[in-house]
Order: sequence, then C-alpha cells, then structure tokens
Amino acid sequence: MSDKKTILSCIQPTGDIHLGNYLGAIKNWVELQKDYRCFYGVVDYHAITMPYNPEKLRANTWNMAFQLLACGIKIENLFVQSLIPEHAELCWMLGCLSSYGEITRMTQFKDKTAQLKSSSKSSLISGGLFYYPVLQAADILIYHPDYVPVGKDQDQHLELTRNIAERFNHQFGKEYFKTPQTLMTKNAKVLSMADPTKKMSKSLGEKHYINIFGDEARVRKQVRSAVTDSGISDSEQMSPGIKNLFDIIAALGSMEDHQRLMSDYTTGSLKYSELKEVVADVLCSLVNEKRTALEGILADKKNIKYQIQQSSAVIRTQAQQTLKEVKSIMGLLHTKTK
Ligand code: TYM
Repeated sequence: MSDKKTILSCIQPTGDIHLGNYLGAIKNWVELQKDYRCFYGVVDYHAITMPYNPEKLRANTWNMAFQLLACGIKIENLFVQSLIPEHAELCWMLGCLSSYGEITRMTQFKDKTAQLKSSSKSSLISGGLFYYPVLQAADILIYHPDYVPVGKDQDQHLELTRNIAERFNHQFGKEYFKTPQTLMTKNAKVLSMADPTKKMSKSLGEKHYINIFGDEARVRKQVRSAVTDSGISDSEQMSPGIKNLFDIIAALGSMEDHQRLMSDYTTGSLKYSELKEVVADVLCSLVNEKRTALEGILADKKNIKYQIQQSSAVIRTQAQQTLKEVKSIMGLLHTKTK
C-alpha cells in the first residue's frame, strides 16, 4: 500500500457547483490529488434529509459527479455514497457513541430546523436531519483520512467527527480511528454577491450564487449588481463585499491585476466598475472553461456512469474492511466471526 497521506471530502448533489463550493473546496480537491490518496464523494444520502423529489435527486447526483470530473477530479477517486451502504451502517454505530446534546448543538441542524419551522413545515424535521452530522462523521472516518478539505461552514461537523473518533478510541481502548485535520483554503467563506453579510449558498436563492457551469451573460449581470458597500460601519475597514471581490481575483485572476486594484483602493482612486469588470472577466473565463469540459463528459455519459459505478465498487472495498474491523472491536458479528 502507498505511504501517501489520505484525503477525504464530499459534496451534496444540490444541482450545479457554485463558486463557494469551487473556491472553498473543489479547486483544492483537484490540486491535492497530485500528492495524496484521495476519496471524493457525492453524498446523496445526505440530500434526502430535507424534502426532495426522487427523479430530480438521481439526476442531480449524476450531474454533480459529471461536474466534479469536469473540474478535474479523477474518476478513480470519485464515489457515490448510496453505492457504499457501509456509510449508513457505520453511522448507526457512531450514533450510539454520540450524545443527543452534542448533535442538537450543530448549527446546520438548528438553521435547517428553523427554515422548516418558519415555512410551517415542522412535521418535515426528520430524524435524518438530526442524524446528518453523524453520517458525515461516518463518511469521513470510514476511510481513515489524515485531512478533510472543506469550507468554513463545515468546521463544527469536523469537530464533532474528531470527538466521536476520540470517544470510540477511548471507549474501546484502541487507537483505531485517526482524528482528521481540517484543511481550509484562503477562500473558506465565499460571500453572496447580492448580500455579502451571508455566505454564498444555493438555499438563499438564485441571485445569491454564481453557477460555475452557468451562462456568461448572467455571470456578468450578477457581478455588475454585486453589493459593495453594505455591512460595515467603520469606513477604515474594507467592506465584506469588496473584500469578497478582491478574494475572487486573488484566487482566479492575475496577481498584477490584484496589486494594481489594491493600490488604487489604498489611494482612494479605485473605481468599483473597474474592479467588477476584472472579476466578471475572470469568472467568465472560468465558466467557459468548465462548460467546455462538461460538454466533453456529457458526450460520453453512458460510459462515464459505468466508470463511476466501478470506482465506487473499488472504494467500497475499503469501507467494507473498516466495517469488518469496527464490528470486531465493538463486539458485533461479521461473516467471518468465529
Ligand atoms: P456542501 O455540499 O454544502 O458543500 C460542499 C463543499 O463546499 C464548501 N462550501 C463553501 N466554501 C466556501 N464558501 C462558501 N460559500 C461555501 N459553500 C459551500 C463546503 O464547506 C464543503 O466543503 N455536509 C457537507 C457535505 C458532506 C461532507 C462529508 C463534507 C457530507 N459528508 C464528509 C466533508 C466530509 C455539505 O453539506 O457540504
């Protein structure tokens, strides 16, 4: 076996990849493939914790897998969660080591619960929604990763994962699970352009996120109407909206543009229209590049679906090995138990 360190990360199949996903996570996932052994999952079990449509979920799951490939994820590193049911089995076991109190404290659970309550849908707050972070801990621990590259919003779930791993090791008196470290990029929290007091997210609505497989005219329009000056009272400090635009240039554009615009900002001569034009140009070249790559993948869709099923089957053997060991440690039976 290779002595490379291991990376694991996952994304929900929510439709198209947005700029927050890309700069906060996926761009980094692609680069990490050079030096690490990587596992990247499309987590469709997570997507059924909120109300959904089955046909749309299936289409979104494939679509997310195709888009990850178009971003540069290697097919052998990619899996679909529902093809590896051991994730759900480990979730049950880890759930028995987690406390009700610690799961209830997860902010994502609180936010989604509040969202359902405010639209008078309290009856749809599912047990799955509550258990979501334990399933995430299982997704991670099952592959014994050293690092998990994610955006800032996943901090709390990773802390819970480490706590569960430590509790397992302590309870069974064995250093079995690694306590994986979080890896974050400089863009760990990309903000909505329409409301830079909030992180970019699909759940805020269409105008809040940039689809990296979207259409050039729409991207230009979104950048043109980006909010620049809201959310700060102290004029000495750069506003979150402007900082967000500078961060996008730093991640995707040229350093010369970044330095030139920053020195205009410092001397007070920066024209926001110019800043926005540079941002729109770098985003349009990203969008065009990704769309072309996606078209190539879609042209060979059937074969690629087959390959994703194959790579999931290979990755599954790792998950099965972990399950066998965990069952043995926990006193449960598996097929080879004597
Ligand atoms: P998800 O599907 O919401 O997002 C996928 C990745 O994108 C990052 N991200 C962002 N980064 C910066 N700025 C933003 N505005 C932004 N929005 C999203 C997320 O932090 C994430 O890294 N619970 C996870 C999915 C998951 C998972 C896992 C992740 C399930 N199991 C195991 C890591 C390991 C989620 O909903 O991510």
